[in-house]
Amino acid sequence: MSEVSFRPLTPITGAEVTGVDLTVDLKPTVVAQLREALLRHKVLVFRDQPMDDERHVALTEAFGGATAAHPIVNGLPEAPAVLRTVLSEDRPKLVESVGNPLSGTAPRRIRTEWHIDSTFVVNPTSITILRGLQIPEAGGDTLFANLEALYAGLSPSLRKYLDTLQAIHSRHNPSPTPRLDGKPAGPFAALHPLVSVHPETGERSLYVSTVFLQAIRGLKPRESVALLDFLLDELAGRDEIHARVRWDQNTLVMWDNRSVAHAGPVDGLMFEEERIVHRTTVVGDALRGPDGFVSRSLMGGKFEALG
Ligand SMILES: [Fe+2]
Repeated sequence: MSEVSFRPLTPITGAEVTGVDLTVDLKPTVVAQLREALLRHKVLVFRDQPMDDERHVALTEAFGGATAAHPIVNGLPEAPAVLRTVLSEDRPKLVESVGNPLSGTAPRRIRTEWHIDSTFVVNPTSITILRGLQIPEAGGDTLFANLEALYAGLSPSLRKYLDTLQAIHSRHNPSPTPRLDGKPAGPFAALHPLVSVHPETGERSLYVSTVFLQAIRGLKPRESVALLDFLLDELAGRDEIHARVRWDQNTLVMWDNRSVAHAGPVDGLMFEEERIVHRTTVVGDALRGPDGFVSRSLMGGKFEALG
């Protein structure tokens, strides 16, 4: 078998991996090698990995416990850990949120929705594994932002202040489809440190999201809005911390959800072809801030691994 090798996508974020066959059980040494590479590169891209959902879930389990597909949205009946995303079903929502700012579903800022998966629960998922099933000829790329570099690029005095803050993340679907596992589908809200310390590397990430992060605790509303505006401008505007992944059918991307934010597809209204991806996630822990603050649930329970 050929050697596993990693070709960085950018100097600090992402790598294409060759020499690994994810369609068969991985040796523990290979899993350890990939896990180490994931901590370093934060996003790993594997090409030509044809597999079914069962294999996808088995791969997920090699990196920790697989969660249900999503805290609010049901997975596939035959594979409850798998979230299927079909772009043609989501396009009407894109039109609504961009086209009608009074609809109540409009995001606070109309631009690519940078987020970290499931930050509205007290223990956001640690790793996300996304697989391309049907991919357009062009379009539907996923963008990644390195949250450690985002933090490191701020001045020491601002970092010191951010280290002391917490933020409220929430998500509420007023009429969710009942969860197949019988658990409540929200509402969810959690208080997280604004700067999180990675449990494995000790590196600090600026833990910000365009869609779920509602406010900074303890600040006046205008202060919170102004600070978040600045931080989200840094997240979206600092090109040097971004990587862009182009998909093909059977491309599989694994990212460390504790140290990158992502956005995508950002151009779903600019092409007409279908785009279908399947996602799994690995259970995560409550976050810890530099001052020792540990995430607290404000509403809703933990997002546990499937038994
Ligand atoms: Fe996501």
